[in-house]
Amino acid sequence: MTHSQFENELTIQEHTEEGTLDEFHAAYEAAVDDIASDFGESHPLWIDGKTVQTDDTFTVRNPGDTEQVLGEFAAGDEGHVDDAVAAASEAFAEWKETSWEERTAIFREAADIVQERKIEIAALMAYENAKNRTEAIAEVDEAIDFLRYYSDELERTDAYSGALREPTPGQRCVSDLQPYGVFGVVSPFNFPFAILVGMTTGALITGNTAVVKPASTTPLTAHTFFDVLIEAGIPDGVANLVTGGGREVGQPLIEHEDVAGFVFTGSREVGLNIQRTFDEMGKRGPVIAELGGKNPVIVSDTADISKAVSGVKFGAFSFSGQKCSATSRVYVHEDVADEFTERLVEETEELAVGKPERRETVVSPLIDDAALERYDDICERARADGTVRCGGSRLEDADLPTGRYVEPTVVTGLAHDHALATDEHFLPFVTIHPVSGLDEAIDKSNDSEYALCAGLFSEDEGEIDAWFDRIESGMCYVNREQSATTGALVEAQPFGGWKYSGTTGKFAGGPWYLQQFMRQQSRTVVG
Ligand code: SER
Repeated sequence: MTHSQFENELTIQEHTEEGTLDEFHAAYEAAVDDIASDFGESHPLWIDGKTVQTDDTFTVRNPGDTEQVLGEFAAGDEGHVDDAVAAASEAFAEWKETSWEERTAIFREAADIVQERKIEIAALMAYENAKNRTEAIAEVDEAIDFLRYYSDELERTDAYSGALREPTPGQRCVSDLQPYGVFGVVSPFNFPFAILVGMTTGALITGNTAVVKPASTTPLTAHTFFDVLIEAGIPDGVANLVTGGGREVGQPLIEHEDVAGFVFTGSREVGLNIQRTFDEMGKRGPVIAELGGKNPVIVSDTADISKAVSGVKFGAFSFSGQKCSATSRVYVHEDVADEFTERLVEETEELAVGKPERRETVVSPLIDDAALERYDDICERARADGTVRCGGSRLEDADLPTGRYVEPTVVTGLAHDHALATDEHFLPFVTIHPVSGLDEAIDKSNDSEYALCAGLFSEDEGEIDAWFDRIESGMCYVNREQSATTGALVEAQPFGGWKYSGTTGKFAGGPWYLQQFMRQQSRTVVG
């Protein structure tokens, strides 16, 4: 595989190199103040290039201050899904005939608009899913990368079309990839911009049309992307936005007979339900799904302990561990287990928990009350069956408004097969397990139904090679101190999982992602 000329958008690094980091922070803080005046509006659906009001609505609040209302959103139902799919089906006829050059021009324009608005979009996430500042800007960067990288890929491959050899004289053969039709797109709360943009762009840029249902906690960010798409010139009916509940919108979308393919990021349960429904209905189109993780990190006795502590701390606790890629279990060599654990506890206790828009915040509030209750529950179980080394409680500091703030939590003393060490929690919670050596650590890492991200801290090349040979994981990172398992970069680190962490084994932001949205046609002309 050759290296492309693609370059990632890296806002923080660029400002740091240019010595303008303070300007970035000042602009972000101004944006946080500015956008607050827009909150409280009503947001209808967007179907066939028109706004659609609904009888029912739902309210979205700031997880960091649940008294603050961000807006009222249309609650779609099955009838709205029918209308959106009908619009997308009708628009497909023309959109699939639109040249890839015209399609990519729209997505390149969208990338430019997002780039212009990046600080404002990052600031919006502080309110909507409580994403902390540097992670929010990195997320907008990632969205820009998806828009540009997928455009580059279509350009690089001539939209995957090309002449093949003449098998016998006079037979002209061509391979062409074509879209399927209407895609359902269901996106998660934790990356409400980047993942929504990446999945929607994957479906549309390849010539499909789409009906998009964002997570019910983050519809405002989705509206922001639709505003961008409309400004960039997306034709009516090609992209439709139906906000609402999983039962009312998501399920009818999955079951709609005219939805040909599906792209989803979220829980294993929902992803497998989509796959099962497609199978039962005899649908032949793809279900492209990324479904969570229980990401192991190994700390060898040769590791640089400072790097390992830093990598695990940020991997487990940034954005409160609400990532499928979050570090959630650590297998540490018994000879360094005490030192590693003590230093991890010490540094975790110093991590800034707080309002996401504060410059120093790493651990931001949880998305909803259900997450808060799950946190209480797992901490109680950890206290009963193991040892909570730090954290384990809600934070009810008088300085914090009515938000869902909890302490990052480190737990030891649990068996490797304890449910707390095998189930995905999506919370700031990590378990530490001493092991006798690399073999045991790899066996235990692989003993999971998930296989999304894995990390290793080792200074021994032989161990690193052995780990790469044996580890079962889509994403594998060695000695990554800024985060052991999270924060993949488009093109350089294509993102996806094996086993129950994904359905296709072809990763977002990588060279084979777009092909999944298309089917091959082999064309032959004789004479
Ligand atoms: N792409 C994100 C990460 O790498 C997760 O979706 O953390």
